[in-house]
Amino acid sequence: RPPARNGTAPPRHPLQPPYPHPYRFLLNHPDKCRARAPFLVLLVASAPADFAARDAVRRTWGNESSVPGAPVLRLFLLGVHPAFDAELRPVLREEDELHGDLLQQDFLDTYNNLTLKTLAGLEWVSRFCPNATYVMKADTDVFLNLEFLVRRLLLPPKRGLVTGYVYRHTGPLRSPAYKWFVPRQVYPNDTYPPYCGGPGYVLSGDVALRVFAAAQTVPPINMEDAFVGLCLHALGLRVTDGPPGAFTMYRLPYDKCRFSRLVMVHHYAPQDLLQLWPHFRDAPVECP
Ligand SMILES: *[C@@H]1O[C@H](CO)[C@@H](O)[C@H](O)[C@H]1NC(C)=O
Ligand SMILES: *[C@@H]1O[C@H](CO)[C@@H](O)[C@H](O)[C@H]1NC(C)=O
Ligand SMILES: *[C@@H]1O[C@H](CO)[C@@H](O)[C@H](O)[C@H]1NC(C)=O
Ligand SMILES: *[C@@H]1O[C@H](CO)[C@@H](O)[C@H](O)[C@H]1NC(C)=O
Ligand SMILES: *[C@@H]1O[C@H](CO)[C@@H](O)[C@H](O)[C@H]1NC(C)=O
Repeated sequence: RPPARNGTAPPRHPLQPPYPHPYRFLLNHPDKCRARAPFLVLLVASAPADFAARDAVRRTWGNESSVPGAPVLRLFLLGVHPAFDAELRPVLREEDELHGDLLQQDFLDTYNNLTLKTLAGLEWVSRFCPNATYVMKADTDVFLNLEFLVRRLLLPPKRGLVTGYVYRHTGPLRSPAYKWFVPRQVYPNDTYPPYCGGPGYVLSGDVALRVFAAAQTVPPINMEDAFVGLCLHALGLRVTDGPPGAFTMYRLPYDKCRFSRLVMVHHYAPQDLLQLWPHFRDAPVECP
């Protein structure tokens, strides 16, 4: 934020995520990329108590070896539970010992702090895995088809790529009644630069590092996806629309042939994923 004329910064609005700030990793895996450069780092935003969602992701689209020749590195991004941190800490430690895929930073895990979660993921990539070819940020309530993503959009490896479902000519919602409320004090303009919808978007590794660097000076806002757009705008980088229908922001009914030719469908709960996955992976369906 620019300092006020008298030299003191204006007070931070409560919805403006406190950033930059030296947040600490409470759970970390600094050595995961030491011996290898993953093709895709999958950063999955998850709430600390959402064990079922993480379990479903691990058993379905989050499988690290599901795309032959394109090693995936899966990490869940967590903050600190606002009420039950002490109770959850040993449980999360145990989960992490078993799966080795939790990254937790010491900010409060709330809806209006989701930007901090994405930045924790990009910080991790910048510090511990700068050789990743691509980085994807995803939510847990999506269906993802990494095979299609890799074969159709990511190979051969590209630089300067940002893709997903692109929102253009949208702007902040100004009514405090909305979950997506962004006050003028947090973001004054009426429109956002183009950005990719938060449930699932992909950055090439070089862009991920540049976005993290830009985020140190671009004033943070409480919408993580629009904030990434603001960083891209500050960097003069463009977003690329995914192929038509590849990133679907509403729930489509499951259909193996259709889902084989898209990247993401929003609004799939853990139970839905566990139920459809064996069919999606194994059913001998002839697609036209
Ligand atoms: C400095 O200016 C800001 C914005 O006008 C004001 O809120 C704040 O109280 C001032 N601080 C001092 C120490 O005068
Ligand atoms: C990145 O790749 C270079 C060249 O392959 C290698 O020397 C370096 O150790 C890698 N760094 C990390 C952090 O993986
Ligand atoms: C991940 O995929 C591989 C290759 O298809 C498979 O062998 C393995 O069982 C899967 N792991 C899980 C947890 O589903
Ligand atoms: C975001 O996290 C910071 C650091 O833990 C905390 O002080 C702040 O209250 C949180 N903001 C919201 C809106 O939850
Ligand atoms: C916000 O509006 C100002 C003034 O019109 C403009 O200079 C600036 O580029 C805008 N910022 C973004 C991120 O669109």
